[in-house]
Amino acid sequence: MVYAPRYPIETDRLRLRPFTRGDVDAVFAYRQRADVARYLSDGPMTRESVAEALQMRVGQEALRVEGDKIFLAVETKERSGVIGELSLILRDEAGRQGEIGYILDPGYHGQGYATEAGAKLLEMGFDGAGLHRIYARCAAANHASWRVMERLGMRREAHFREHAFVKGAWDEEFVYAVLEDEWRTAERR
Ligand SMILES: CC(C)(COP(=O)(O)OP(=O)(O)OC[C@H]1O[C@@H](n2cnc3c(N)ncnc32)[C@H](O)[C@@H]1OP(=O)(O)O)[C@@H](O)C(=O)NCCC(=O)NCCS
Repeated sequence: MVYAPRYPIETDRLRLRPFTRGDVDAVFAYRQRADVARYLSDGPMTRESVAEALQMRVGQEALRVEGDKIFLAVETKERSGVIGELSLILRDEAGRQGEIGYILDPGYHGQGYATEAGAKLLEMGFDGAGLHRIYARCAAANHASWRVMERLGMRREAHFREHAFVKGAWDEEFVYAVLEDEWRTAERR
């Protein structure tokens, strides 16, 4: 498979583009926060760890082989400046299975941006990359995240009880997913 979209990708209110090394400060601004890291597997990030992560992300903008990841910076159309990040990962090439993820700066929560960006990720995965199924995972306590998944038309497929020991406690995980034909039927409605 080769899925190498042209950037930027636009939604009604957002512009999605690959990361650059110049994005470190904007990403650090929200990734250093304990509230952002609360339900992520890693804790708050240092500026150095953000710089290292972005170094790896530069160039991760196409899906070619299993395991490839597209990492995108989210900007509003109103002004440039990163307000969050998205991922679309090719988890299984033969089975055409993908995974999406999203993290937004808290200054931009509650405005439907994650839902708008997530809808574009599903479109990229199904229309662009030809995926058959797309899933997303989150901590069961992460209401904001699984509400976005439900708004995107994803179904709760699994509730893994105490499946991992994360940050000193047993973790509960939800898995949500949508099949291509379910997504297309919902799009036509
Ligand atoms: C998960 C996360 C991205 C969700 O962000 P969010 O702001 O809650 O989600 P949205 O931007 O889609 O906003 C949804 C809320 O805005 C409201 N909203 C306002 N305008 C809207 C619109 N045009 N469209 C959809 N929702 C809208 C919705 O009603 C919804 O509120 P509700 O959940 O009380 O019903 C955010 O909480 C986050 O970044 N958390 C930290 C990192 C994280 O945990 N990431 C997920 C890891 S699995």
